[in-house]
Amino acid sequence: MRVAVAGLGWWGKQIIGCLGKSPLFEVIYGVDPTPPAGALDFLEQHGVRHAPELAAVLADPRVEGVVLATPHQMHEEQCLAVMAAGKELFCEKPLTMTSAGAQRVVDACRAAGKVLGIGHERRYEECFERVQALIDDGTLGRPLLYEANISHDLFRNIDRSNWRLDPKHAPAGMMTATGIHQTDLCCAFFGAPAEVRAQTSSLIFEPPATDFVTASITFRSGARGAITLLSCTPYYGRVTVFGDKGWVEVVTEGNVDQGRPTVVTLCTGTSEPRQVTVYHPTDTVTANFEAWAEAVAGRRQYRFTHEQVLDNVRIFEGIVTSAAQDGKTVVF
Ligand SMILES: NC(=O)c1ccc[n+]([C@@H]2O[C@H](COP(=O)([O-])OP(=O)(O)OC[C@H]3O[C@@H](n4cnc5c(N)ncnc54)[C@H](O)[C@@H]3O)[C@@H](O)[C@H]2O)c1
Repeated sequence: MRVAVAGLGWWGKQIIGCLGKSPLFEVIYGVDPTPPAGALDFLEQHGVRHAPELAAVLADPRVEGVVLATPHQMHEEQCLAVMAAGKELFCEKPLTMTSAGAQRVVDACRAAGKVLGIGHERRYEECFERVQALIDDGTLGRPLLYEANISHDLFRNIDRSNWRLDPKHAPAGMMTATGIHQTDLCCAFFGAPAEVRAQTSSLIFEPPATDFVTASITFRSGARGAITLLSCTPYYGRVTVFGDKGWVEVVTEGNVDQGRPTVVTLCTGTSEPRQVTVYHPTDTVTANFEAWAEAVAGRRQYRFTHEQVLDNVRIFEGIVTSAAQDGKTVVF
């Protein structure tokens, strides 16, 4: 697939590097009206042309697909423009800032018969594929609780004017950074959400930036999710999924780009020996893009259903809404 990658910041460059490794993609444009330092050299090294405007790229018939790695608030409008141009669409997370916006994007994809690519590559981590299998084959029994704490201090020393600390662009602490991957996994494991409550606080950051999020989600099945995100502590990543027959704990030692191992502990009974497995990182970003391309070509189903993508944005919006009202329950 000949694609343009819009947004040449941290993640857009990561994506271009990943797509360059895959025989399924050729990146022909990198789009950014204000390319950050080094981005144009980066494009040259990868043999990719720079385009300042998405509109010009959308008008080029050689472009078959567009990957959006732009600031969150632009996603909805850009997704709709990509659909209107008849191109394939892959959008980074969060898909949109509101569930109404996500619905508009999904409706446009459905109407155009397009597979909506979405940047939740954590689903392709072997550890989480294993958790999904343990749920699907009944090893864990009835799913009861998804408990996660994903915290890091990578944003602690960034410039205060950075969009990542601005609640307009990145509301509810690290919800759009790490939390949205957690809620995506919850939707994959537990299905549709029923209600959510969340609180945020500014214990270290100066308000309005928030550095502490706790969210409690109830799913229609009755299962629950409890997610904590701290922005000012050394990296910590633990997800435990509990069922009535067993639990599985996933502990990661570093953020997505740090290449650290993951230790998975499975318990299937109080007297049973615990099974510990160590997983080493794999290139899940490329795996997600290739799965999307295969689905676009009609060779396999994409892992993310439209309903899951919508549910995830509903949860995200619910967390932001609830946190703004100090934990008021938001019912879906
Ligand atoms: N899947 C993941 O694990 C993952 C990881 C990091 C970031 N992301 C997502 O990628 C997106 C970008 O994040 P980032 O960390 O690279 O941000 P960033 O601020 O480093 O980069 C964003 C870039 O978009 C550019 N831009 C602004 N307006 C544009 C426009 N109209 N057209 C094209 N480009 C435009 C900016 O100039 C900037 O270079 C976000 O949605 C983020 O959530 C996903």
